[in-house]
Amino acid sequence: MQHLRSLFDVTSDEALQILQTAADIKRNDTLGERPAILQGYTLIQLFEKPSLRTRCSFEAAITQLGGGGLFMTCAEAGLNGRESIEDVARVVAGYADFIVLRTFSQKLIEDFAAISSVPVINGLSDERHPCQALTDLFTLQEVFGALDDLHLVFVGDGNNVSASLAILTAMLGVKFTLATPPDFQLDDSIIAEVQQRYPDAQFTATNDPVAAVKEASVVYTDVWASMGQESEQNARIKAFQGFQVNVDLMNAAPKDCKFMHDLPAKRGLEVTDEVMDGPNSIVFQQAENRMHLAKGLFVALARGNA
Ligand code: CP
Ligand code: NVA
Repeated sequence: MQHLRSLFDVTSDEALQILQTAADIKRNDTLGERPAILQGYTLIQLFEKPSLRTRCSFEAAITQLGGGGLFMTCAEAGLNGRESIEDVARVVAGYADFIVLRTFSQKLIEDFAAISSVPVINGLSDERHPCQALTDLFTLQEVFGALDDLHLVFVGDGNNVSASLAILTAMLGVKFTLATPPDFQLDDSIIAEVQQRYPDAQFTATNDPVAAVKEASVVYTDVWASMGQESEQNARIKAFQGFQVNVDLMNAAPKDCKFMHDLPAKRGLEVTDEVMDGPNSIVFQQAENRMHLAKGLFVALARGNA
């Protein structure tokens, strides 16, 4: 793997290796061992959209591994037309060992990576959120001990997060059900590509959230209006009625079913306080794990380019 533009950039072996490395580094850290395995490495993050978890977890990860990080908005960096994407990419790659981009356009990340001589990581685009999905399966492995026989049920929007989960669950053999309102399903093109690359994938799309969660190991949701869709918020609130993850929906799932959310959450819309703060919620473990996963990813990318 040279870049992480989307999860189609990684093989299943590479994905499992990232999860394993993240787990090893996390375990050593809890034992008080924090070796500076990426001493002197530099991370540059360029973002077009807001972020708490992605920005902080990547910066914490590189710092704890002995390196350092620098953040700019894409506009400050000149990606607002001040100079060409290609020229910015060539310059930033000259300073950085890793680059994280958070953009509206997936194509911007791909164009940047085509020029960059150092690994480019997608820190979220309108279409994909690969680091979130890697973190989520890392968290499931931690909570359940293994990924075997798990059934992940996503209730909500066919968006960047559910698209990346669809790819990674198919790659790693995790059963995935996506329950969306009829007009908010994943693009047929993503589903077709997943099925072509992973013919054994256990993927089901449905519009019935109650039936979907019946045999869930984990119920997952995300905001109904993603960053950039704020003007659609009211229309989406109407369209997503019946898709809130609340106590009634969790009661339709097995008793020990876990709850996940990539955050930020709009409490009272896609999820209620009772579920977010309830005993089966693993959302803050999931959020912390963004940092541990970032460490595993940096190590894999540094090795891949050694
Ligand atoms: N989950 C996630 O990507 O959070 P941020 O938008 O805060 O980075
Ligand atoms: N789907 C959400 C994820 C935020 C981490 C968004 O794109 O805004």
